Amino acid sequence: MSTNQVQIFDTTLRDGEQVPGCKLNTKEKLIIAEQLDNLGVDVIEAGFPVSSPGDFKSVEEISKLIKNATVCGLTRAHKNDIDVAAQSLIYAKRPRIHTGIGTSDSHIIHKFNSTPEKIIERAIGAVKYAKTFVEDVEFYAEDAGRTDNEYLARVCEAVIKAGATVLNIPDTTGYCLPEEYGAKMKYLKENVKGIDDVILSCHCHNDLGLATANAIAGITNGARQIECTINGIGERAGNTALEEVVMILKQHPYLNLDTNINTQMLFATSKMVQEHMGMVVQPNKAVVGDNAFAHSSGIHQDGVIKNRETYEIMDPADVGVTESSIVLTARSGRAALAYRAKNIGYELTKNQLDNIYPEFLKFADVKKEILDDDIHQLMEISNA
Ligand code: KIV
Ligand code: ZN
Repeated sequence: MSTNQVQIFDTTLRDGEQVPGCKLNTKEKLIIAEQLDNLGVDVIEAGFPVSSPGDFKSVEEISKLIKNATVCGLTRAHKNDIDVAAQSLIYAKRPRIHTGIGTSDSHIIHKFNSTPEKIIERAIGAVKYAKTFVEDVEFYAEDAGRTDNEYLARVCEAVIKAGATVLNIPDTTGYCLPEEYGAKMKYLKENVKGIDDVILSCHCHNDLGLATANAIAGITNGARQIECTINGIGERAGNTALEEVVMILKQHPYLNLDTNINTQMLFATSKMVQEHMGMVVQPNKAVVGDNAFAHSSGIHQDGVIKNRETYEIMDPADVGVTESSIVLTARSGRAALAYRAKNIGYELTKNQLDNIYPEFLKFADVKKEILDDDIHQLMEISNA
């Protein structure tokens, strides 16, 4: 599909929730699903309905609740999985069944003890069966990242003929390099009959820290859906982080690719998922980490105080962070101290700053971070 709109398929509640310790109950899933709908995601993968009665219930309740996004349920290429998923999606305004099977040699030989031809037959059967319940059927070729491109193209062509509307090309093990993953999408675009009538989707894992780069490589080579999670949570090292791909597309307008995401809700959504899942976001996490807009070295602070854009490529307000922060440490300079003092009511002259700065450094050498109360204390000591 040649459009500049990139569909955001959120799998926080499925691939994200598979992570040990991230398990949510139905009530929590509903809270997050509603937030995702308001955030503007196009598809919510609500769960794997056959996996447990609790997950079935969650997908069913989410289907009742969600007003805008497509609600999707995962299945294997098994009739019973598809029956159960279809049943759980019965109340959805826009239901999607996400079915598929492993296509790499490793999956065909070791997981299924099967042959490439038989796998294609199973893929066709699963898509055709899912189509008897819903119009929108997404097919995943598990471990597509390590699947031979020629065979993958045959699988894709067969499932398009069977009625798939979206083709998911997962780099399940996070093995691909961006060039390789991008080239895979390009190969499919150029060699699969009917490919322009369906949406190609990127589903990348972060085992080598490349999940975001690979998704972007997929998109710049013709894919138009990214499967991702809030804070990049997911199996093992996680999935592509929603907030990262969305901000990459926003900050690089020349790519001419848009999403429907209300970026100002990103920070609050990240915090909400963090709290409910108990999965702490590292402070240096791109876009939503606590340090993403914090400046602590003297050189950077001086630059940011003069002009924020000297060291910031995003406006914090665009992701819902109130403002950049100037953190006072023993690496901070005079400009940062004067700036923070001014914020709490002290307008320091050059002389006053020269006097107080050595005291500040002594203090900062013993404390990790100087807070507003410490500044008041410093002012009292120096009578500024
Ligand atoms: O990583 C993967 O291959 C998956 C599929 C089930 C879509 O999560
Ligand atoms: Zn996955």
